[in-house]
Amino acid sequence: MTTVSAPGKVYLFGEHAVVYGEPAVPCAIEKRATVTAELREDDHVRVEAADLSLNGFVVEYAGTTDHRPDVDVPQPLLDAAMGYIDAAVQQAREAADAPDAGFDITVESEIPLGAGLGSSAAVVVAGIDAATRVLGEPLDLRELADRAYNAEYEVQDGQASRADTFCSTMGGAVRVAGDDCTKLSTPTLPFVVGFDGGAGDTGKLVASVRELRDTYEFAADTVEAIGDIVSTGESLLAEADPNSEPSDELISELGDLININHGLLSALGVSSRSLDTMVWAAREAGAEGAKLTGAGGGGCIVALDRTAETQTSLRYTPGCEDSFRAELATEGVRVED
Ligand code: PMV
Repeated sequence: MTTVSAPGKVYLFGEHAVVYGEPAVPCAIEKRATVTAELREDDHVRVEAADLSLNGFVVEYAGTTDHRPDVDVPQPLLDAAMGYIDAAVQQAREAADAPDAGFDITVESEIPLGAGLGSSAAVVVAGIDAATRVLGEPLDLRELADRAYNAEYEVQDGQASRADTFCSTMGGAVRVAGDDCTKLSTPTLPFVVGFDGGAGDTGKLVASVRELRDTYEFAADTVEAIGDIVSTGESLLAEADPNSEPSDELISELGDLININHGLLSALGVSSRSLDTMVWAAREAGAEGAKLTGAGGGGCIVALDRTAETQTSLRYTPGCEDSFRAELATEGVRVED
């Protein structure tokens, strides 16, 4: 039996612009999905997921076909969760050359679902790692990240970037530009996340930015300007000592860039009333910077903040359902036992 955890993520900078080849910097956060895998005698897969829905569920099936019994979970939620787990199991079987391997799998997650915090990537990364380990074929991190990307790509019909799976595998801050992914070395960054309880439609939001970019040259310039913010942010991170606490100056400069990045995303039409309200509440509470994270339209904001004020203030902000501190997770995927 092996238990593995992997972190969720926020975008420090660069979502949407990354679709057009600009770099982005996602950062892993200390909110984890944990997967336990145990080898079975038969080729069945039994999945027990306590926190992936309000009710949790237990499902057992043979092979990869749809053998979903009646469970007290909305079918779309169950299908979504099971789709990722099926894909992770398939990747592990393929990697270990064990097409008939069966597993008992338990999933627990601290990452809010569908909120742009990379919950599915964390489950897939931890799932593939746990399953290949119990098969005696642990993967190196690059292969694990690639296989997790393949799993997401398949489940999301080709609508996946490498950002979530690479970041969850490697931990810390990473740079993603197309297929080129590298780990950055950075000091710990103090994040606060605010969640409005909803989620935007990523496909529609990406399409709306594409249309603006195709129609107006200044919208295309806005996308490029986001890329410039990312490059400036990367240089600041590269100059900082990864082994010390971040300086006030670094936090303040990153905060400025985060604020400008939010303004540009807002100009591209992907913010929302609730996201803007949370962003302003965080800034007014003293955060050095705050922006939406992920596709936008609803979901989460991330603020850079060292005080306790921002999280408390977000908690009392109308439209904010949940807020929590989430330090940069310097470790990515890791074995827990
Ligand atoms: O909402 P998330 O965390 O899946 O992020 C979407 C990020 C986009 O740049 C808008 C789309 C993408 O595939 O990179």
